[in-house]
Amino acid sequence: MEEAVPAATPAGLRPGLGAGDPDLVPVPLCAVDVSGAAPQSTGLTELDRVLGGGFVPGSVTLLGGEPGVGKSTLLLQVLRSMAITGADVVLVSAEESAAQVRLRAERLGPVPPTLLLLEATDVRAVTRTMGESPPALVVVDSIQAVADPDVSGLPGGVPQVRACAEYLVRLAKTQQVPFVLVGHVTKDGALAGPRVLEHLVDTVMTVEGDRHHELRLVRATKHRFGPTGELGLFAMGDAGLAAVTDPHKLLLGDRRPGTPGSAVLPAMEGQRALLVEIQALRAPASSQSAPPRRSAQGVDAGRLALLLAVLEQAGVVFGHTDVFASAVGGIRVTEPAADLALVLALASTVARMALAADMVAFGEVGLGGEIRQVPHAPRRLSEAARIGFRRAIVPASCPDGPPGIELLRVASVEDAVAVALTMEDEGEGRSMRARASA
Ligand code: TYD
Ligand code: MG
Repeated sequence: MEEAVPAATPAGLRPGLGAGDPDLVPVPLCAVDVSGAAPQSTGLTELDRVLGGGFVPGSVTLLGGEPGVGKSTLLLQVLRSMAITGADVVLVSAEESAAQVRLRAERLGPVPPTLLLLEATDVRAVTRTMGESPPALVVVDSIQAVADPDVSGLPGGVPQVRACAEYLVRLAKTQQVPFVLVGHVTKDGALAGPRVLEHLVDTVMTVEGDRHHELRLVRATKHRFGPTGELGLFAMGDAGLAAVTDPHKLLLGDRRPGTPGSAVLPAMEGQRALLVEIQALRAPASSQSAPPRRSAQGVDAGRLALLLAVLEQAGVVFGHTDVFASAVGGIRVTEPAADLALVLALASTVARMALAADMVAFGEVGLGGEIRQVPHAPRRLSEAARIGFRRAIVPASCPDGPPGIELLRVASVEDAVAVALTMEDEGEGRSMRARASA
């Protein structure tokens, strides 16, 4: 009976349990070889920052974003800049023809000969990108356009997307080649495909931005090899995406201080503070019988409705008027810290008075009209001060900021509105109230 126990069963383990592959044994974690896991630069500094250095061999990154936002363009730039260093890289194009891809690539600059193209929709054809020596990067554009002929269902459907992604993940891991899969996401991030993918891949990166504006934000929302807080900023131009070093020029460049309905928010995007103009407009209701319009662009519609209710409670009456609110520059601000800037922009439309041009505001507004603390106050204040703002309306408990910016601490929406609308505009040397009535 004793001899029936397999030799590989560790001593002490009860007989009857199979021990699997005898070579699979625990090893000291500190002895694990990590040399293969070093990230390799993408050639784009902004993107390297988001990824914590670049793509890790054998890793799979999903690049999500709305159609037309610039995913293919960004990846073509990565492929080009890696190929320029002499590395073999491959683009698997399942959506666009080879000629289309070449035309686009030429907009971005000369196309190096080590940038290879495979026009294919059969996911198994991707194996042929491996060649003699494995390439430095494979991009599959897009995961919704490739299909596995052994799996039923249309390309882009959940069974196909899952099967193709599993196939490509296996290929990446066995060949130790970094893969990037493009995944289209609809406005509400709904599309089944990319959501299914998120747990299969190592990294999820997104490109955000409004098609009608230049600014594009790239960030990692899941990253097994580094931080997720970093934000990459690009501007879409005639020759693809260019790194943005001075985002406030893009975001505040066209601001017209002295206009009611405009407030500046030091927003946090990942670890980065960005100054964003929040605008509000109040107009006579387009219909007397229907409920007035509430329109939000770049700010949360539910939040807008809530803040209007809080303002009404605080005595700022909107009545039967249409209200529009937006974040300028195609940026989307979803953090609660935006509440106070939005509240002040809204109140300024009711008072028909502009807010001081050198003022920023941030803070979360509670249902009782109280102003609550938000994270990263020092970073927000430093960035505002750096760009030249001199005053900030902040929650009562806000820690001190850097020198050069005066903090006006407020506890409630009433306080905030009173402080903001009676503030002297120092740049103009006279009170905002006087100007509004002039
Ligand atoms: P694209 O990368 O095709 O988007 P996605 O792959 O996310 O669907 O980008 C599409 C938009 O970018 C398109 O409207 C054209 C514009 N674009 C530029 O403005 N400049 C350029 O140099 C390139 C290549 C594209
Ligand atoms: Mg594309």
